[in-house]
Amino acid sequence: MSARRVTVTECPGGPLLIRGADEVVGIDGTTGTVDRAVVAMCRCGRSERLPWCDDSHRARKRRKKKEQTDE
Ligand code: FES
Repeated sequence: MSARRVTVTECPGGPLLIRGADEVVGIDGTTGTVDRAVVAMCRCGRSERLPWCDDSHRARKRRKKKEQTDE
């Protein structure tokens, strides 16, 4: 059996992109089976589909930008 290469790429302010994994464990302990070449794992804890990213982190970015422009 050969070792499988798994890579993790950090998206600034967003998810971790996981390539080559069969299974992942999210920040809440939820285990997910990987059936795609690349999956996005939530790091912000706001996703309603943990451990997967559902783009909820983007709402936070928009809110931060609005707060900065309102100041
Ligand atoms: S990182 Fe995308 S929803 Fe949490």
